[in-house]
Amino acid sequence: MSLPKINPTKTEAWKRLSEHFDATSEVLMQDQFQEDPNRANSFSITWNGFLVDYSKNRIDLETLQLLRQLADEVKLKEAIEAQFTGKHINETEDRAVGHTELRNFGSMKPEVCETLDKIKSFTEKVISGEWKGYTGKSITHIVNIGIGGSDLGPDMVCDALAYYKNHLDVRFVSNVDGDHVMESLKGLDRETTLFIIVSKTFTTQETLTNAQTIRKWFLEDAGETDVAKHFVAVSTNLEAVSSFGIASENIFPMWNWVGGRFSLWSAVGLSIACAVGYDHFESLLKGAHEMDLHFKDTSFESNIPVILALISVWYSNFYYAESECVVPYSQYLSKLVAYLQQGIMESNGKGIDRNGDPVDYETGTIVWGSTGTNAQHAFFQLIQQGTKLIPTDFIAFKNSLHGNEDHQNKLLANCVAQTEALLQGTKGITVENNFKEFTGNRPTNTILIDSLTPRSLGSLIAMYEHKLFVQGIVWNIFSYDQWGVELGKKLAKGTLNAIAEGDMEAIDNQSTQKLISRIRS
Ligand code: F6P
Repeated sequence: MSLPKINPTKTEAWKRLSEHFDATSEVLMQDQFQEDPNRANSFSITWNGFLVDYSKNRIDLETLQLLRQLADEVKLKEAIEAQFTGKHINETEDRAVGHTELRNFGSMKPEVCETLDKIKSFTEKVISGEWKGYTGKSITHIVNIGIGGSDLGPDMVCDALAYYKNHLDVRFVSNVDGDHVMESLKGLDRETTLFIIVSKTFTTQETLTNAQTIRKWFLEDAGETDVAKHFVAVSTNLEAVSSFGIASENIFPMWNWVGGRFSLWSAVGLSIACAVGYDHFESLLKGAHEMDLHFKDTSFESNIPVILALISVWYSNFYYAESECVVPYSQYLSKLVAYLQQGIMESNGKGIDRNGDPVDYETGTIVWGSTGTNAQHAFFQLIQQGTKLIPTDFIAFKNSLHGNEDHQNKLLANCVAQTEALLQGTKGITVENNFKEFTGNRPTNTILIDSLTPRSLGSLIAMYEHKLFVQGIVWNIFSYDQWGVELGKKLAKGTLNAIAEGDMEAIDNQSTQKLISRIRS
């Protein structure tokens, strides 16, 4: 069996959720808290240093019971089983979805073990200085060349774990924007820089162009035989990597059963292992594995990703919330939202269901956000008093890493105050006019984690991975392909011919023709 193919809107639970929505949509959370002194306990989960408080949502016990019934009716349990047992649930590409296998300590696939060993010995050599460049000097800088899943995850994690970093300076080049490439090369010494080319397919235009440009830049001073000491690659396409000129011992394998946006746990995370050392990289994987076990083995009543996913479906499909916001109260997580945007939107931005028919209900989540407290001084006004309902995740860490108590108290005070303000509004406060009135009743989840460690970060990322999977199952869509992106890649070949060579044959549209003519003029 692959995945169940059940239209969620045809379930009994959906019908009952619609009725329940009609009956409860005017209920205020403020009142629910007043009426139930135990609400915060009933609607929160404590797990492995995480407190996930989902009590500030427009839900009651019946909402959750019906949402779980929905999960049962769309056969979520069977879908989880299918993913974890390696069924080809990425049906449109006929592939298994195995990112959890990359961190399946205890029962790891031999090829994953071998690759982890290779990552370990390589990173140890680079970090210790044993790996020498072409003039005999040790490596000081690393540049990851990749895009999408071959960039966003490693880049986000390297920033998130900056506290745990060693002496290596790790940079990321992703955009085919040549100015970006040249800026990224500024100040780099060819003799002490190592380039990691990361591309699952090794066909991605941006990555190959950037890799060629950087290779040429390297060869301005070094020779062809020196490439082996400065370029390594991560890919499934071993042939293409070899023809790029990378020595076979410098190739780290990847597999088709790992989706690009879920690949930071594989050798795609080589730059992470270099930046923080192999042991921290392994802890990151272990944290994710712990979340995998929680997700796989915990009943839906207390299953963090399942509950977060179902609440999100509640807002998306019954309240018609247009987007969700994520606000980490940690500058270390400043790239988390961009990372989640690929994971969530590339996965669930689908309008065709698993039977191949167009859906007639909402799917996908528009996810956006930024770090707190900065976001409070930017877009929070709209969440607080705007006309849109924007469920927001607040992510915070109980302890800071550098231990500055005054800062940490202020940071957390702001985080908690915002969820409180969004809930209570100006209820009970006399305001002079309507402009100052703030209705509150705006939903939030708070994910309060003891400390930002490689382990807790791994669990946090895996939590969102599983959340998006659950939503894809409920919406009856395939979360693990990305055909829309593929079309854009194809069309870019035609526009490139037109821009570079003046060959307008493939360009039918007059607006596109006009733009290209202007570019060429
Ligand atoms: O953006 C589409 C996509 O296929 C992503 O899914 C992937 O992460 C990215 O391109 C990069 O692909 P590759 O690793 O094959 O270069």
